[in-house]
Amino acid sequence: MKILAIETSCDETALALLEATGGMRTPQFKILGNVISSQIEVHRPWGGVVPNLAKREHLKNLPIVLEELIGGLASASRRPGLLVLDAIAVTVGPGLEPALWTGVNFAKELHRDLKGKNKKLKLIGVNHLEGHLYSFLLAQKGTAHVKNLFPSIALIVSGGHTILLKMDSLTKWKKLGETRDDAVGEAFDKVAKMLDLPYPGGPEIQKLAKQGNPHAIEFPRPMIHDKSYDFSYSGLKTSVLYYLRDHKEARPPAGSRAFQRLEADVASSFQEAALEVLVKKTERAVKEFGAKSIFLSGGVAANVLLREKLGAESKKLKISFVAPPMDFNTDNAVMIGVAGYISSLREKNKRITAQANLNL
Ligand code: KG4
Ligand code: ZN
Repeated sequence: MKILAIETSCDETALALLEATGGMRTPQFKILGNVISSQIEVHRPWGGVVPNLAKREHLKNLPIVLEELIGGLASASRRPGLLVLDAIAVTVGPGLEPALWTGVNFAKELHRDLKGKNKKLKLIGVNHLEGHLYSFLLAQKGTAHVKNLFPSIALIVSGGHTILLKMDSLTKWKKLGETRDDAVGEAFDKVAKMLDLPYPGGPEIQKLAKQGNPHAIEFPRPMIHDKSYDFSYSGLKTSVLYYLRDHKEARPPAGSRAFQRLEADVASSFQEAALEVLVKKTERAVKEFGAKSIFLSGGVAANVLLREKLGAESKKLKISFVAPPMDFNTDNAVMIGVAGYISSLREKNKRITAQANLNL
């Protein structure tokens, strides 16, 4: 099944073309084209994503990205001016409503135009979170026979969500817990801002943390001993804020080596605290439910330390650890194509309308 996938839920205008085969038992994906136009530079001066700016940029970029995608395809996949497709998959939510609408309307128009030539062309609405969740299927190793991986514990960590799920199969899951306030990626972004680091903060904190001591400051590990599988990151963020405020007087002069050391220690200690909660709760869920694997996804899954920690934990527990390759953690359209394929196999279709608060 050839799928054109479209993602515009936040600040990336992303399109991808995939060939999906294998059905529910052995789903496999060949990526024929993948283009992401990032708006990071546009939003950076504002310290976060501005919804109406995102909408403007998506509207401008969508046709350009489509041209680029088609232009980059191997000639066998191209037809004069037209894509030969079985389905168009588009993110319908959750996300920024004005941004979502640009993708949804673009997909509808394209579907209408191409349907004249192909009456069977499907239009599939995709939940962005299912996109992250199923992105583990893009891992190069260990997913040939998915059923051997279940039951699994899936951790979705992004700028908007922190969710722990128990999955019994590709299509049957139960939410064990989620954040009660800030998402973990959001906490990385906010702490980065406190340290005057640019948006998005996750990669910046990761870089700075390498020069610091993760045990220099004992930041709280919110809800780590709580019986539930919920998370909370707003208190940790506030602790960092108070730490920086309380040490303002004693802070070495800006730019000095000692100052850089202190900032690196804050980044490193914050990262350690934030990740420890994720790892501990995932480990507990694996034990409680006898899981055979851990799936990690979402933008924060790009964090190398988190991958190392969960990888090591899985080794200890003698289970599989599956995370998408580096390019498919932060928002992209390939994962939307993957989730679109699974939805089409289930004949489960979301409404094709922007749904800003859609959940799993
Ligand atoms: O999945 P994503 O691209 O967008 C949402 O659906 O939210 O996730 C973006 C989030 C941002 O908060 C960003 O700071 C975080 O992922 N992120 C990271 C890293 N790379 C991206 N957080 C920690 N470490 C990273 N290396
Ligand atoms: Zn995302």
